[in-house]
Amino acid sequence: MARKKIALVGAGQIGGTMALVLAQKQLGDVVLIDIPMTQGMPKGKALDIKEGRSVINSSVDLQGSTDYSAIKGADVVIVTAGFPRMPGMSRDDLLDKNCGVIKTVAEAIKANAPEAFVIVITNPLDAMVYNMQKQSGLPANKVIGMAGVLDSARLACFVADELGVSVEDVKALVMGGHGDTMVSIYECVSVGGIPLPQLMSKEKFAELAKRTAGAGGEIVNLLGRGSAFYSPATSAIHMAEAYLLDKKSVFSCAAKLDGQYGVKGLYCGVPAVIGANGVEKILEVKMNDEEKAAFNKSVEACRKNAEWVDAHT
Ligand code: APR
Repeated sequence: MARKKIALVGAGQIGGTMALVLAQKQLGDVVLIDIPMTQGMPKGKALDIKEGRSVINSSVDLQGSTDYSAIKGADVVIVTAGFPRMPGMSRDDLLDKNCGVIKTVAEAIKANAPEAFVIVITNPLDAMVYNMQKQSGLPANKVIGMAGVLDSARLACFVADELGVSVEDVKALVMGGHGDTMVSIYECVSVGGIPLPQLMSKEKFAELAKRTAGAGGEIVNLLGRGSAFYSPATSAIHMAEAYLLDKKSVFSCAAKLDGQYGVKGLYCGVPAVIGANGVEKILEVKMNDEEKAAFNKSVEACRKNAEWVDAHT
């Protein structure tokens, strides 16, 4: 059986990191794509990783290109093409700039890899994944956005630090849009199987949830240039792995709702089962009244951006 092919559209900070992680995990051959203006950059990154494969015991192939046709037949396409945030910018500030970029990439995917499972990372995430599915015409179960895995991992990190326990034993769930309105679900966090409410007060949890919602901005401010890239990269690969290995993994991601949570036709962060058929099921979580209200507010923020996309495409 031929090796799987994974195309990374956008060979910047996240794209380059994903290429390295994919090579280490040997999930498939990798193609890094960027715009012609970047000249040899995607080829250079691919070659750099390729030359080090004997050290990491990997034999997958890596190529770089500035021509979208190189994604032909890809099994998975992960999209970071676009502009990242700078200090003082919200993710929504990227709406106008990145909308056109996603349209171009969506057309390239439709022409070259219509069977692919597509993971969008470009911000503002929920609007860009909505735009990708709309412009590519790919089925909604094959187009998802990377955000919930990362937001949940960030919350798990803060909970583990607060309790002084291994982060490996913390499972967390963050839902809603990938922005200030995201919602951390108190009763859906567990530590070694113990529900978090038995270990941490609601007030302390609210503090950690607030930090989680601003975690991307915290990193933007520390970096001074660009936004987080290591953890977004590993989160997206976790999602690709669930699809490629038919894991039926359960995690939060931006998926197109079809009546779940009373919402239809909109992308928003929800827990889903991901396997060989892409989004195989969206799971409905019980929330308390406060969380429900916050989630509905977050859905409205996603709707506002999706309406912006509809009005401008
Ligand atoms: N096709 C392919 N690549 C493109 C296109 C396009 N039409 N337009 C821009 N790019 C490339 C840029 O040239 C750049 O190399 O996308 C890459 C983006 O990389 P970075 O600027 O390093 O940004 P990164 O940190 O990787 O984040 C990418 O993910 O988390 C989000 O907000 C973030 O939207 C941003 C995206």
